[in-house]
Amino acid sequence: MSSSTLTFTMPDDWHLHLRSGEMLKQVLPFTSQHFGRAIVMPNLPSPVVTVADAEVYRQEITACIPETDNFTPLMVLYLTEKTDPKDVKAGFLAGKVAAVKLYPAGATTHSDAGVKDLEKIYPVLTVMETIGMPFLVHGEVVDAEIDIFDREAVFIETKLMPIRERFPKLKIVFEHLTTKEGVDYVLSCDQDTAATITPHHLVINRNALLVGGLKPHYYCLPVAKREQHRLALVKAATSGDSQFFLGTDSAPHLAEAKESACGCAGIFNVANAISVVAQVFEQEKALDQLEKFLSLNGADFYQLPYNRQKMTLVRQHKPLSLPENIKIAEGEVLAFDPLLDLHWDVQNPLGMKIK
Ligand code: NCD
Ligand code: ZN
Repeated sequence: MSSSTLTFTMPDDWHLHLRSGEMLKQVLPFTSQHFGRAIVMPNLPSPVVTVADAEVYRQEITACIPETDNFTPLMVLYLTEKTDPKDVKAGFLAGKVAAVKLYPAGATTHSDAGVKDLEKIYPVLTVMETIGMPFLVHGEVVDAEIDIFDREAVFIETKLMPIRERFPKLKIVFEHLTTKEGVDYVLSCDQDTAATITPHHLVINRNALLVGGLKPHYYCLPVAKREQHRLALVKAATSGDSQFFLGTDSAPHLAEAKESACGCAGIFNVANAISVVAQVFEQEKALDQLEKFLSLNGADFYQLPYNRQKMTLVRQHKPLSLPENIKIAEGEVLAFDPLLDLHWDVQNPLGMKIK
């Protein structure tokens, strides 16, 4: 390995939106070229609530994986107040579903079928704690009176802490962490609490969204916060601490749905996700911790073996060009512009550049 080449265990994406239909077909190859596995979020317009739903969705995904790629989708159940603990347990023990996701009702895209009263899900959490099944949390309160920039911190105090107290051994992933309060909370817990961090929250703060005009392509949920929070996320990710790992939260929407009077939340970042993360680790002089964040910590938390394939990154002197936007029949999906020069280029095992 030279200073301009990095070879390490193939990464996984622990938080991904693949959508369905034409959109799925177009976005999936970007994931299957860059990741061995991905935790596939269940917030389809008609959510993935039962193990049977997850099996149907898995088949739709599997049918779209390019033959050249070795990619495994890890299916997730969308938690509702009616979720059957027996279905969850049977699906997990049979290896059909890897986790359950909590969307507080109204918190984000397609969350209306989510949970209003957390006590209603305690029977499911009891079973999950016993079988060691990860509980994935969209950690924002939805109360109208709470400022959107405070919703994560308030969720930790009013929702997450009581759950943690009641279920001390439950494996919890705080998804797409965006605040210093979140980092501090995770660090105050033991190894049964972890968090995913997105590439975009490592490189943008709320100025990207709001300065010089409203920039809807930097709008996602949880919304990017102040610079001090971004710095806390960078410190956590680059520390190599086993409680933090990559979840891209790549969430494609048509450009016209984002460039609207009521624009959708979500950033499509998977085409340059690895390059963005590598750039941040280089800036922090922490490239030696990159493999942990991308490829090891998440697998350890989910108690899965590391990927056998390798990934190689080559440092190009000239900054990489931005990935092309995706064109589908209904319109275009814009690729994430990280607003910084990227130099780390992903190669395939034959040494060729990957799109
Ligand atoms: C996600 C989506 O569009 O499905 N959007 C987002 O901004 N992250 C939902 C989510 O993860 O909150
Ligand atoms: Zn998401």
